[in-house]
Amino acid sequence: MNKSNELKKLVIATAVALLCAQAHAADNADARATQAVAALTPDEKIKLVFGYFSTDFNGTKKPEPGIEGAAGFVYGIERLGIPAQQITDAGIGVATQPAAKTPRVRTALPANIAIAASWNPDTGFAGGAMIGNEAHLSGHNVMLAGGADLQRDPRNGRNFEYAGEDPLLTGVMVGAQIRGIQSNHVISTLKHFAYNDQETGRFIADVKIDDPAGRMSDLLGFQIAIERGNPGSVMCSYNRLHGTYACENDFLLNKVLKGDWGYKGYVMSDWGGTHSTIPAALAGLDQQSGWPFDKSPYFNGALLESVQNGHVPEARLNDMAHRILRSMYAHGLMDDPAKVQPERIDYSAHAKTSQAAAEDGIVLLKNDNGVLPLVDSYKTIAIIGGHADAGVLSGGGSSQVYPEGGSPVPNEGPAQFPGPIVYHRSSPLQALAARLHAKFVYHDGKDAAAAATLAAGSDLAIVFATQWTAESVDQSDIKLPHGQDATIAAVAAANRKTVVVLETGSPVTMPWLNAVGAVVEAWYPGTNGGEAIARVLTGEVDAAGRLPATFPADESQLPRPKLDGLGLPEGTRFSVDYNVEGAAVGYKWFDKKGLTPLFAFGHGLSYTTFSYGKLKATPANGTVNVSFNVENTGKRDGKAVPQVYVSRVGGGWEAPKRLGGWDKLALRAGESRDTTVVIDPRLLAVFDGRSHTWKIAAGEYKITLATAADAPLSAVTVKVPARAFAAGAK
Ligand code: GLC
Repeated sequence: MNKSNELKKLVIATAVALLCAQAHAADNADARATQAVAALTPDEKIKLVFGYFSTDFNGTKKPEPGIEGAAGFVYGIERLGIPAQQITDAGIGVATQPAAKTPRVRTALPANIAIAASWNPDTGFAGGAMIGNEAHLSGHNVMLAGGADLQRDPRNGRNFEYAGEDPLLTGVMVGAQIRGIQSNHVISTLKHFAYNDQETGRFIADVKIDDPAGRMSDLLGFQIAIERGNPGSVMCSYNRLHGTYACENDFLLNKVLKGDWGYKGYVMSDWGGTHSTIPAALAGLDQQSGWPFDKSPYFNGALLESVQNGHVPEARLNDMAHRILRSMYAHGLMDDPAKVQPERIDYSAHAKTSQAAAEDGIVLLKNDNGVLPLVDSYKTIAIIGGHADAGVLSGGGSSQVYPEGGSPVPNEGPAQFPGPIVYHRSSPLQALAARLHAKFVYHDGKDAAAAATLAAGSDLAIVFATQWTAESVDQSDIKLPHGQDATIAAVAAANRKTVVVLETGSPVTMPWLNAVGAVVEAWYPGTNGGEAIARVLTGEVDAAGRLPATFPADESQLPRPKLDGLGLPEGTRFSVDYNVEGAAVGYKWFDKKGLTPLFAFGHGLSYTTFSYGKLKATPANGTVNVSFNVENTGKRDGKAVPQVYVSRVGGGWEAPKRLGGWDKLALRAGESRDTTVVIDPRLLAVFDGRSHTWKIAAGEYKITLATAADAPLSAVTVKVPARAFAAGAK
């Protein structure tokens, strides 16, 4: 047998062994959970389903064994070897609750939107593995990460915690992070299930969306993330769906998540997201989180009494306990218990992981006349705004990770939650000064005229513009705040060699765009963000990010030009009608309406050039395989993100096209590579509410190879046979 066949046999044998091991682990986890539940007393079952906030709050002390400053704690059952659940936020790293006396210092990843902007599941996994390691070494065995709510609105304050507007990109990237976290024997959540796509009125907003539209948008993102990440837990969201709170929504939890998708993990509530005992238990909630955030300890004595009175079948309580224990066994919480040993954290290696992720997600939006990468011939460079002399911005709220020595920019933003505003101590100015011989002069940018004067006297001006976004509050518009647009315009008028670096959590408008030479979207770039920015600006690394969300020209282009609920008195109930756009979220809406955005989904420039060829689409295994070649035709190593969009010839979908797949290729100068993208079959289908199945219609489909939603390169059509498959299949 020749070498390559031998290798093939070895690879197949290894894959089979791995799958068997995973299947065995799952069966084993079920068996161990069944055995444990049988041994539990009713009181012990209640212990497992009732969680506490693990920080002293509003006069209520945290449980003594809970880790100070953490998000949650659930008692264990020592006699059965069941550890306590020590729960930490979130998807950017080991966070500390703002109410905590002494914030823990840990490594911050770039914002999750920056990770999504890498379009690189390996980057997602590596980042998850890093923060999961810090969680485990901080004594945590549950990490409230996995933010997968779609970016339906660029004003959503938590867009920085999510993965953008597309369900496939979201599912793949969030699934990768979850797998990374769980590789440390730490359960990761997937959150916030579902349709928590704005912060305004988050506790009461009532979302309306037809089921087929939801299945092909928000729910598809969650479904793919579950398939790829296997999260031990799903966190149900605060909002209501068709009048019923998500955490007591039988349709979402029992019918979709546990029924159609066959989810075997457990559903925990968001902190303050539980509103009942019997309805919530019967609707599929498995654990109340964060007492005393709720109005009542619904899943404590009241649940036990409901079971004793027969209002909640004992089998349901057993199922709750089983799901929690199954996830704990399946993800190694008993076999590899987390211990508080932060001295074992390799912070320097972790900073490099964070930096690599930031570099992989920084997006070069504009670059006229090759103003970037920066040459080392400038004598004076003006650095303006964004506290670029001190550090880089991060997003606010429960995901807040605190830097060594505290924020280098103290006392900015709200003193209470979701503030204060925290910067990470990685100065873009210092990082640039370490690489270029120019003289750097910093100005805070608050006085536009003074900043312009400095720019006029400099060879180059780099303006850092920030937009602080945070949990619990939305932006009222998508403009840069605090007069930064005026400063950028004044600087650009004074020096045509002006570069703008954005540190934002969401898309923003750029009225000065035509006046500046280059624009870079660095998002919230994490612990080593300044270094990452400098390496991209100087071309040490290619600009490798691509937009995970459309940048609108202005709010009038949005399905809801005015954010629902904005300005209503606290507690006023209102609904949010996602049927306006349905599944046509983001670029799909722009395509459907024929709108031209400021920058398109998938957009991002490179410092090198690529050529694309040999596009071929082949129907196979109920979907379509798309192969093509990419060549780096430039003089620099670089990263390409070829995107494959699919369209049904003759229409009939929610929008003209959908992202069907992509690849990310690091190619040396002159290197060429063939690649194949397998289209997720659900992206060739529509979800049929009547038959409750995905349906691919027989016919012709157009397969477009592109470098952005608005940048097609070539296309082929392919005939695809009809196919129907179950809601939970693909
Ligand atoms: C918050 C957030 C959730 C977080 C939890 C614990 O309100 O919605 O994302 O994990 O409570 O802090």
